[in-house]
Amino acid sequence: MPHDISRYLAEGPRVGIRHVTYADGPEFTARVRESKDLHHPWLFPPDTAAAYSAYAGRLIQDPAKAGFLVCEKAAGGAIAGFININNIVHGAFRSGALGYGAFAHAAGRGLMREALGLVIRHAFGPMGLHRLEINVQPANTASIALARACGFRLEGYSPNMLYIDGAWRDHERWAITKEMLRPPGNTDLTDR
Ligand SMILES: CC(C)(COP(=O)(O)OP(=O)(O)OC[C@H]1O[C@@H](n2cnc3c(N)ncnc32)[C@H](O)[C@@H]1OP(=O)(O)O)[C@@H](O)C(=O)NCCC(=O)NCCS
Repeated sequence: MPHDISRYLAEGPRVGIRHVTYADGPEFTARVRESKDLHHPWLFPPDTAAAYSAYAGRLIQDPAKAGFLVCEKAAGGAIAGFININNIVHGAFRSGALGYGAFAHAAGRGLMREALGLVIRHAFGPMGLHRLEINVQPANTASIALARACGFRLEGYSPNMLYIDGAWRDHERWAITKEMLRPPGNTDLTDR
């Protein structure tokens, strides 16, 4: 299926980000099935049509969530990964919690780093948020490297924080606030 790149919310040199749609199910679930080894035991994204439909429905309909697909421009907009903002709270907090995964064919090429930079700017710009957090298990070196590379700082340690893969897991809490963004002009990221 051709990708509609006119829907990019923001783009950098190599990737664009756009919202999750129901129509992305076949491509998304095929890439998830190829990426089991990469995602295990950290992440369990939907790998069937029914599970994707429920997942996309939550991201599209719940105002406390926003789902973004990372699309590789040189590959015609093929989906390289995904970044979701969950637990969005407005008011004095204006914060959200990130979840993300690369797909195996695209992992380790810097695409997620570029895309997370775009999502951060979109969250602190059009979405009006002030803080984003990443809760990550201490042994997840790839995710911690991504958080660090994108300018997040370690805020603290949360024992038994999230129920993942059959047990309550300890997490490091990494976060970035709007004040920590590099000033415009010091970045190669462009918003649309
Ligand atoms: C975490 C994840 C999204 C990173 O994706 P990626 O495609 O490797 O990301 P990038 O290629 O953009 O790399 C981002 C940074 O992490 C570094 N990195 C990537 N994998 C790494 C690894 N296994 N060990 C150490 N550093 C790593 C890269 O070198 C890069 O840093 P740099 O820009 O300073 O060189 C991917 O590994 C993944 O999907 N993991 C499984 C799901 C998961 O853990 N999700 C997060 C749960 S909290």
